Amino acid sequence: MRLVLKNIGSLLIAEQEPAPWVSGEEMSSVSALSNAWLAIENGLIACFGEGEVIPFADDEVLDCKGGMVMPAFCDSHTHLVYAGSREEEYEDKIRGLSYEEIAKKGGGILNSAKLLSETSEDDLFKQSLPRALEIIRSGTGAVEIKSGYGLNTRDELKMLRVVRRLSEATELTIRATFLGAHAVPANFKSDQNKYVQLVIEEMIPAVAAENLADFIDVFCDRGFFTVEQTDRILEAGATYGLVPKIHANELDYSGGVQVGAKHHARSVDHLEFVGQEELKALKESTTMPTILPGASFFLGLTYAPARKMIEAGLPVALASDYNPGSSPSGNMELVMSMGIIQLKMLPFEVLNAVTRNGAYAMGLDETHGSITPGKVANLIITTPMPGFGYMPYAYGSSQINKVILNGKIQ
Ligand code: NIG
Ligand code: FE
Repeated sequence: MRLVLKNIGSLLIAEQEPAPWVSGEEMSSVSALSNAWLAIENGLIACFGEGEVIPFADDEVLDCKGGMVMPAFCDSHTHLVYAGSREEEYEDKIRGLSYEEIAKKGGGILNSAKLLSETSEDDLFKQSLPRALEIIRSGTGAVEIKSGYGLNTRDELKMLRVVRRLSEATELTIRATFLGAHAVPANFKSDQNKYVQLVIEEMIPAVAAENLADFIDVFCDRGFFTVEQTDRILEAGATYGLVPKIHANELDYSGGVQVGAKHHARSVDHLEFVGQEELKALKESTTMPTILPGASFFLGLTYAPARKMIEAGLPVALASDYNPGSSPSGNMELVMSMGIIQLKMLPFEVLNAVTRNGAYAMGLDETHGSITPGKVANLIITTPMPGFGYMPYAYGSSQINKVILNGKIQ
């Protein structure tokens, strides 16, 4: 049976042959059909057009009442599997401690790791499922989820098994990333390289043996992992087919962008510190620069120079970074608003950044991120709006009327 959407005020990013990503000046335009319809068959987009639609007798018809229809969000960077929460660190931050100082005190990532080690796999799943369902309601259809609060083999595997269970239990398309090198656990503080060795020799093979991850990540930044350590970890990951997605240049010019580009990372993420050398490395690569404005907002850090990147002809993806320490929200409508207000991006630039460019950053550009026949029917139906710009403009209130994932109304 087909599901036919009618009375679509504006059908956005509807393209027969979309490019895998958009960059530079192209980012500010989006194709739009007005007064449109769209048909979904077997969970996939079948066809679309302008004007009145004459449905078949057994079609299910959904009246969009003039609302816009666009691809569901593709959130390419989250840590939404975690135990407990860290709102008590607010106070430390308000008292003036930096993210790095909180981490040094045993707070931060190590705090989440302690909570996670005391939580069973079932309980971790129970705590994470509501977050997955929450992001679906907020319009996300495809999401990347990282490990990295385990920091030992048993708990890293536990996290990745929960990621797998989330993809079985929901309609989300999920990509999993192994992030064993997220922080150095306290018992390895005096010999950080010993922990790197554990990641390489024990964790990566164990993750690969259960086929639990698509990507490998390293927090390559001041006070966390060095370029040389990142290099070794990515090389080890590559032997198991794990593609890099790197946390880079959040706290300093860390060299993370360059080492990511060198290893053909699918994306390098954060990018608060980006200069000429980073721009050059990115220009010569197929790596998606990914900005996480929620983390800059929540931690009160500098924002990544999005305009400089787009003006250099680069693509940009935006993601939520949903995690308990630096961005406890997976709300992509809010991410779009921050993209405009803080990163000075234009409305269509942020729309491209949270759909097609986000899909590319997860290796999902052939199946997600645009409204294209044969792609997965992951769609957002909005309330009637004067124009697309109204959605990020009306920040903090949602314009999402319905979410459709795999052709099913959520
Ligand atoms: O992307 N920067 C490193 N990791 C996360 C934060 C994790 C945490 O504080 O729990 C991030 O911001
Ligand atoms: Fe992150």
